Amino acid sequence: MANVIVVGAQFGDEGKAKVTDLLSRNADIVVRYQGGANAGHTVVVDGDTFKFHLIPSGILYKGKTCVLGPGMVIDPKAFVKELKGLTDRGLDDSGLKVSNTAHVTMPYHLAIDAADEESRGDHKIGTTKRGIGPTYADKCSRSGIRIEDLLDAKVLRGKLEWLVPKKNIILERLYNLPPFDVDAVYEEYLDYGKQMAKYVCDTSAIIFNAVQERKNILFEGAQGTLLDLDHGSYPYVTSSNPSAGGACTGAGIGPTIIDRVIGVSKAFMTRVGEGPFPTEQEGKIGEDLRQVGKAWAEVGVTTGRPRRCGWFDTVIGRYAVRINGLDCLAITKLDVLDEFDEIQVCVGYRNKQNGSIIKNISSLAGEFRDAEPIYETFKGWKESTSQCRSFKDLPKQAQRYLDFIAGELEVPVAIVSVGPMRDQTIIIEDPIHGPKRVLTHVNN
Ligand code: GDP
Ligand code: IMO
Ligand code: MG
Repeated sequence: MANVIVVGAQFGDEGKAKVTDLLSRNADIVVRYQGGANAGHTVVVDGDTFKFHLIPSGILYKGKTCVLGPGMVIDPKAFVKELKGLTDRGLDDSGLKVSNTAHVTMPYHLAIDAADEESRGDHKIGTTKRGIGPTYADKCSRSGIRIEDLLDAKVLRGKLEWLVPKKNIILERLYNLPPFDVDAVYEEYLDYGKQMAKYVCDTSAIIFNAVQERKNILFEGAQGTLLDLDHGSYPYVTSSNPSAGGACTGAGIGPTIIDRVIGVSKAFMTRVGEGPFPTEQEGKIGEDLRQVGKAWAEVGVTTGRPRRCGWFDTVIGRYAVRINGLDCLAITKLDVLDEFDEIQVCVGYRNKQNGSIIKNISSLAGEFRDAEPIYETFKGWKESTSQCRSFKDLPKQAQRYLDFIAGELEVPVAIVSVGPMRDQTIIIEDPIHGPKRVLTHVNN
């Protein structure tokens, strides 16, 4: 029995879904605990590409229980569409469970997200426009609609009669946009409720029972540590807690059941949307990292926007170790570095204002803004790693690169991914049953 959290240790899109898919094989339950349709998780199976937004990637395996947890925000229209796409491809939805207390992304949330972004001008976040911020804002202000409300016509009607006119004032007066009609929204969302009803239940109880039966539970993080509402590069963050702590509140489980936390990082770094990115490379290096034209090109899965690319940043890595209490790392996309003559790694920041040097950040706002990366340069290995299946198969320079990252972050690299396919994976040590590390020295 092992209960494991997989989290993004950078700005999202680290390759979490590939790692979750690898670990799902031995899991009984796969749980999404936060976020919504802003996520874009890619798994490639025998040459077939699956892109998940709301549904846990564990649905690729028959017989697994796949949970959309209470900490998620679920757009029912997107859910119904995504599920149809998956069942049309022959996937089995019999293990799918949706939390009755997850919040619902309503059409006015989508409209407000887009309008708010527009109105921010230079302060825009670069959201995915999937209504995430406005849905979580309503949850916090206790004006949200929950999945269970879609199943009760009277409750839904009552809430909409109260909420829609309020949202219409914002839409019409603040943004000069057309209002929503209560009747039309009611009919449409009641119908989604009917379509979703068979999946809706108390998912926290399902997980608790599974814990008691000593089953294996895998928590699939969306987004990444630096996009965490509390611990990320605020305000350029999402509106949930992707970091490991979010798995407990978002799934409705206690921290005592968690055995391992695995952080996923690319061998370099990307960011989509606005916000600071100290190691960003805008010229040829950025283009080469983006791998335009390849199936795994750095283009957003949800929005199709090009991702900003840059070098691996160990300051961010150490921060992710601290925030999540990472036991080990999975490093993905090592193969993307195969052709580079030189590879740089950021080992610290020099403050542009006062010249001081830091290896660890305490403030993602100020210290980040003024950070000038200090790089260590590695000679590239200039040979393909995509066929390597063990650490010793890797070119010596690639081994050194991975050892360096592990040393800087003071956590082992347990998994290395050298391509998008399932078998393009190197297991250096068992990420779940290997020796449990006690965190020492990190960020002290
Ligand atoms: P997630 O949101 O963290 O699950 O990651 P995304 O699916 O948004 O982006 C990761 C992309 O990289 C996808 O296109 C994957 O198929 C691809 N990918 C994952 N691991 C590797 C790898 O080791 N090498 C290459 N070339 N592509 C990979
Ligand atoms: P996965 O799960 C990368 C980014 C957006 C924007 C910020 C806020 O595939 O790693 P939001 O729509 O959440 O209000 O946008 O967060 N963002 C992601 N970036 N991967 C994601 O998900 C993301 N989900 C949101 O680009 O900068
Ligand atoms: Mg993604």
